[in-house]
Formats: sequence, C-alpha cells, structure tokens
Amino acid sequence: MNTTMELSTIKQEYCTVAEQMQKRIVVCAGTGCIANGSMKVYSELQKHLAGTGFEVVLDFHTDKHINGNAVHVTPSGCQGFCAQGPLVTIYPEKIMYVQVKPEDVTEIVHKTIKNNQIIENLLYINPTNGQHCKGQDEIPFYKRQKRLVLDECGLINPEDIEEYISRDGYAAAKKVFSQMTDQEVCQVIELSGLRGRGGGGFPTGRKWQLTRVEQNDKKYVICNGDEGDPGAFMQLVQTKGLSMFASNTLWLSSGYAKQLKMPKNMVF
Ligand code: FES
Repeated sequence: MNTTMELSTIKQEYCTVAEQMQKRIVVCAGTGCIANGSMKVYSELQKHLAGTGFEVVLDFHTDKHINGNAVHVTPSGCQGFCAQGPLVTIYPEKIMYVQVKPEDVTEIVHKTIKNNQIIENLLYINPTNGQHCKGQDEIPFYKRQKRLVLDECGLINPEDIEEYISRDGYAAAKKVFSQMTDQEVCQVIELSGLRGRGGGGFPTGRKWQLTRVEQNDKKYVICNGDEGDPGAFMQLVQTKGLSMFASNTLWLSSGYAKQLKMPKNMVF
C-alpha cells in the first residue's frame, strides 16, 4: 500500500466479497479452545462443508472469485468463555455452539448450515433456569458485559489485515498523518489518560512528548506487548483477539508524534 486512499478501496472490495457469503462460521482459536480441540473442529468444518457442496472461503485475498454457496470460515481470538470451549458461532443468525467436538461437525453442517435448524444440545444451558441460550445475547456471562477494548473480539479474524481495514483499521493512523501535527498527537494521547500499567503508571502522552522534543536524529519506539503481571498476557489477548495489526496504528501514531516523520524510518 502506498497511499491512505487505498484503505477505502480495500474496505470496499472486502465488503463486496463479504456480501456474497451465505454464512460465516467463526471458530474460537484462543489458547483454551485450542487446548480443547478447536483446530480439529475448524479443519473438520472445512472438510465437511466442501464435501457437502459448499464453497469454503478462508481468505478473501486469495478467494476473490466467489460462486455458488459460499461459506466464510475463520478463526477468532479468545472470546472469554473458555470453560465452554471450543466455541463455534454461526452468522448472520449469531448461533453459538459450545463444547463442540469434531464429531458434531456433520450435524452442524447438515442441520444448521444447510437447513437453518438449531441443534439444541449444542447450545449453552443457563444454569439458573435450565433454558437453552441461542447465542451471546442470551448467555448470562455475556449479557452483562459491555465490551470496549475487546468489542471486535470474536467477530474478526485477527490475522486478516483486509478484514481489519474493512472495520476501519488504520483510520486513526490516517487521521494522524493527514490532519494532525506531532504536537497535537501527543496532546490527544495525554488527554486520553492512557498510561503505562507497570509500577510507575507513566502517562503515555507525556512519554511521547518527551521523546518528541528530544534533539536527536535517532529515536526508537519499542512495543513489547507484555505487562507488569508476569504470565497474565492481557496485552497478548488484546493483540491476538482483536487484530495482529491493531497495534500498528499506535506504533505509526507514536512514531509520527516523536517526529519519525517518514514511514521509511520505521522498522517493524
Ligand atoms: S479460548 Fe475460546 S473462549 Fe477463550
């Protein structure tokens, strides 16, 4: 990509192909679900869908020419309900199946994907009233949550940069490069209250500002994706759950704010 204008083209192309999908199946590929066999479910799904006459689309970049009954099958980051994994969610109906095993796949394809039927014994049962919950909107664990940082988690394939762009990924970086000065970026970050999560809790905007005014032709941005709590991996969950590319927006903005003005000066 050479210009920010290309972001709109990529978004438009992605949305055009997405509209041609009959369904989307999201298989949770967070650590807990993988440990419980979600990747076997993921590959069984592909096999059974293809064997039943569906066109299996994993990646719009390599599968641009869609025809027939196209089903988009993607992994997601951890959706937070690990004890009930592997989770399989079917869109647009938002049906969530829990504790899915590879042997359930034939029934899922035949009943839900082909015939739009819900398989009751794969739904989560609300332990307080014994009712089957069709999806996240009915599951008590999710119902009381309002997700801010992880709002896209479970909806997006974290490894698909085009999907990230289709959901306005890099929009903030575009604004930074096209409409703001380096000083304004530092001010916005300082006003946001963003700060380190280690012992010092140092305000991020002030840190950027100090680097910005430093007179030196070499400045470094280091993002280690870890935090103070050993083994907590909160930031790893954010990176793997939302998009591997989301942190690039912050790095690009950070580099710009610190007067690393030319993208060629940035090494990722
Ligand atoms: S790993 Fe799937 S819900 Fe956490």
